[in-house]
Amino acid sequence: MRDPTMVGVDGNAAAGGVVDGSALPPPSSSPPQALIERLKDYGQEHVFALWDELSPQERLLLVDDIQSLDLSSTDRIIRCSLRSQGLPVAAIEPVPESCVSSVEERTMEERERWWKMGLKAISEGKLAVVLLSGGQGTRLGSSDPKGCFNIGLPSGKSLFQLQAERILCVQKLAAQAKNEGSAGSVTIHWYIMTSPFTDDATRKFFENHKYFGLEADQVTFFQQGTRPCISKDGRYIMETPFKVAKSPDGNGGVYSALKSSRLFEDMATRGIKYVDCYGVDNALVRVADPTFLGYFIDKGAATAAKVVRKAYPQEKVGVFVRRGKGGPLTVVEYSELDSSLASAINQQTGRLRFCWSNVCLHMFTLDFLSQVADGLEKDSIYHVAEKKIPCLHGYTMGLKLEQFVFDAFPYAPSTALFEVLREEEFAPVKNANGSNYDTPESARLLLLRLHSRWVAAAGGFLTHSVPLYATGVEVSPLCSYAGENLESICRGRTFHAPCEIAF
Ligand code: UTP
Repeated sequence: MRDPTMVGVDGNAAAGGVVDGSALPPPSSSPPQALIERLKDYGQEHVFALWDELSPQERLLLVDDIQSLDLSSTDRIIRCSLRSQGLPVAAIEPVPESCVSSVEERTMEERERWWKMGLKAISEGKLAVVLLSGGQGTRLGSSDPKGCFNIGLPSGKSLFQLQAERILCVQKLAAQAKNEGSAGSVTIHWYIMTSPFTDDATRKFFENHKYFGLEADQVTFFQQGTRPCISKDGRYIMETPFKVAKSPDGNGGVYSALKSSRLFEDMATRGIKYVDCYGVDNALVRVADPTFLGYFIDKGAATAAKVVRKAYPQEKVGVFVRRGKGGPLTVVEYSELDSSLASAINQQTGRLRFCWSNVCLHMFTLDFLSQVADGLEKDSIYHVAEKKIPCLHGYTMGLKLEQFVFDAFPYAPSTALFEVLREEEFAPVKNANGSNYDTPESARLLLLRLHSRWVAAAGGFLTHSVPLYATGVEVSPLCSYAGENLESICRGRTFHAPCEIAF
């Protein structure tokens, strides 16, 4: 007998939009034989264990669910990923200095040259932006996609709006650099990756906000895939008697999602050569940064990543390393980095040997992106994370299969790192307010402090009725992308914080 306490079962069926009984084919008494045989090949036939207790509608849902899974590739992924767990990893070395442009070594001339090179490439339509926005944002605890989140700025803008307006600003700067004053002459295409958990709400949010001033047809949404959640012995976990538990395949699902949505072809048709790829949850993200793009083009690398200096040895961030002697650059997670290596000091500089933290701000050539999608698919190695998984009896501990966007780096013939300052470009929004770090509140303050410095540097004055450390001014991205062009608005003027400075 079915457990009568599993109210979710029937509730889910209704929510899933089940067709009314009269439209259904006659209920079959046993699951399709061919499907059972295929499942047996992969040791997954237990998914039909509760068949006899299912209603006709539920049986159809179960068959549909199983048929929607790519059984053979999922089987390959499970075997390769479980096998690769715990294998010894190749020795690591620090990233050679020649691969990094550090803030202190960068000259003013270089910065200006890269800025101009980047703007030129953007004005020629060679840059696309890919946003990773398929995460469930469980730590933040909001039911909406993270990009819809309002971190409490004076303007009340969401993360999506801040990013859209930065794109608008770069379009305008690129058009001006091209001597064509009108912003409409330059378009940066924005590809937004969602997941089944964020897709609907994300599309609606953009529609309801009229794409924040962007053209609707310069934004393309595409969905990342999901993978079944599995037990430690590789068997699918059932979320209900007629549905396999699934989770998004990680932000590294972007490569296969771009491929299966035929977006590499779409990019090539548009003349795109370079792709800026970043996570949604950084309030200071410089989307489509011309300087970073110019640097990337100048280096002629296949990939690049912005990095910040690790704040302290045990900081929980992944760092770039060189894998093996003379091997490619890659990211090791903090949990994989031995604590003696994490705190090892470079005797010449007095700084950490492994100091370049990954902050999910990447640049790729389109050629490399399309190749790496094939390489990752062929190797089928996913990260295996033990997590709470919804199941027939509530929750169980199981394994989620995920790829990470940085999994691409070992495939790159060349990677260039570009150091940026945290206080200028990294304000993560990971945890709910009240947590110790990376909250909407900490991101809000980082943004207000940076923008207040821009205003002061442009000759403006601030007054405030709460302590300055708890407030500041916000500069609309429509006025300034990175602090430029603020003199005409700010010089000699006094602003009362908190407020937004906008046209
Ligand atoms: P995180 O790893 O911080 O995960 O994502 P998250 O889903 O946002 O939050 P938690 O862990 O559930 O609290 C880093 C970036 O990768 C994207 C996120 O949207 C964010 O931009 N991401 C993550 C995806 O696009 N897909 C995924 O499957 C996971």
